[in-house]
Amino acid sequence: MTQETQSADAPPKRLFIKTYGCQMNVYDSERMADALAPHGYAPTAAIEEADLVVLNTCHIREKASEKVFSELGRLAEMRAAGRDFMIGVAGCVAQAEGEEIARRSRAVDLVFGPQSYHRLPALVARAARGETVVETEFPPEDKFAHLPAPAPQVIRSRGLTAFLTVQEGCDKFCAFCVVPYTRGAETSRPVAQVLDEARALVAAGVRELTLLGQNVNAYHGHDAAGRPVGLGELCARLAELEGLARIRYTTSHPSDMSDALIAAHRDNPKLMPYLHLPVQSGSDAVLKAMNRRHSRAHYLRLIDRIRAARPDIALSGDFIVGFPGETDEDFEQTLSIVRDVGYASAFTFKYSIRPGTPGAAMADQVPEAVKTERLHRLQELVTAQTRGFARACVGRTLDVLLDKPGRLPGQLGGRSPYLQAVHLEAPASLIGTVQPVLIVAAGNNSIEGKIVTHAEPNPASLLESPERAAPTRRLEERPRT
Ligand code: 5AD
Ligand code: SF4
Repeated sequence: MTQETQSADAPPKRLFIKTYGCQMNVYDSERMADALAPHGYAPTAAIEEADLVVLNTCHIREKASEKVFSELGRLAEMRAAGRDFMIGVAGCVAQAEGEEIARRSRAVDLVFGPQSYHRLPALVARAARGETVVETEFPPEDKFAHLPAPAPQVIRSRGLTAFLTVQEGCDKFCAFCVVPYTRGAETSRPVAQVLDEARALVAAGVRELTLLGQNVNAYHGHDAAGRPVGLGELCARLAELEGLARIRYTTSHPSDMSDALIAAHRDNPKLMPYLHLPVQSGSDAVLKAMNRRHSRAHYLRLIDRIRAARPDIALSGDFIVGFPGETDEDFEQTLSIVRDVGYASAFTFKYSIRPGTPGAAMADQVPEAVKTERLHRLQELVTAQTRGFARACVGRTLDVLLDKPGRLPGQLGGRSPYLQAVHLEAPASLIGTVQPVLIVAAGNNSIEGKIVTHAEPNPASLLESPERAAPTRRLEERPRT
């Protein structure tokens, strides 16, 4: 037993993790919990009973960062009122601001970046001895090789769908983005490591895996022979896992959408026909200023090729309005690319200045009122497309992964291939199965259907529907990085 390991008969300490931002933070929070479990920390959903509170933070936009400091203020008050617990700050704000966090909030006991999560037990032990710990170096060892695997019963408690980080970091350096600074250089996990983790997840009942990476389609993990393997091939290897029903991946960069990956959308039936492929802007001038490394025409050609390979694919995107120098004409180009592509869902953001990125130093910052007005116009268009897609699903039969009890007795909830929330009447015994569901109604945030024994042929491809767009709702509230 190591110095920090809890003895078997000691009462468990309670760990509360609050997660901000993207899916990778959700995954990381689970891995932090896994790392601390052998050291006597059991997760709690009640912050009032926590011995250790970790804020897993997001730095992508100013608002996200500032939330952390208001939460730290609340935690400091709880401590001043007599509650005794440790406070840790993890994630991208921790990485970007390091010691500054401990200076701004004296209550903080430890600050640690995303590359140090495997060291968490040792860091917590140091903080418990009274040290204010700040760890934002990028350690030489492989974090993933040192993180303990979660126990099967822990995986089961997390449900039928799981995230799995396969790639981390980014070398693209878009002029607005902090990710290359907070998550570091692009790295890919070795194929065997990914397959082992996937196998454990599937053995514990996971039916749908979402592979994560800031630039996931740049994945190039090595196989046992030292050969680099692309994401399409990785998905093929994962598809061999029998109990696994569905594979997704996010987030992709248009420049890394290889022919092999596009072909995988045609050839791999487990790969869901849904792709998050941010373009950020429809204007070539803005794309250039953003250092996006692709043009509008390149993106549109790419979409055509992807749709040729998988005609029913639904697309999702991220858009930034008000990047420095964006004119009315540039913004019109963004509206027009949204119309040209037809999105299933889209995440829309006002440009937010991030200290240290090239965009922050650019002249021609766009006034806030202009950004707000552009955001509203873009959101209106995107919402119309999203609803149009949902309506276009009515009358189609979609495979739905039934993953939880519904709101009313006798109801279940599930996910369509396009990530839509689906409600239907079905017995609880079907949870965990994929069923053909005839969609009968579309709401703003979900669709409704009924199980059909034999899938009817779909009346029309979504691409031929008058409102060429996709699923009913902003699929998750989280920004994607
Ligand atoms: N301001 C606004 N939005 C941003 N994003 C990234 N950085 C910024 C920023 N500085 C958006 C991009 C990215 C998504 C995760 O967040 O659209 O794809
Ligand atoms: Fe990398 Fe995506 Fe950020 Fe661009 S927006 S720097 S591709 S993480």
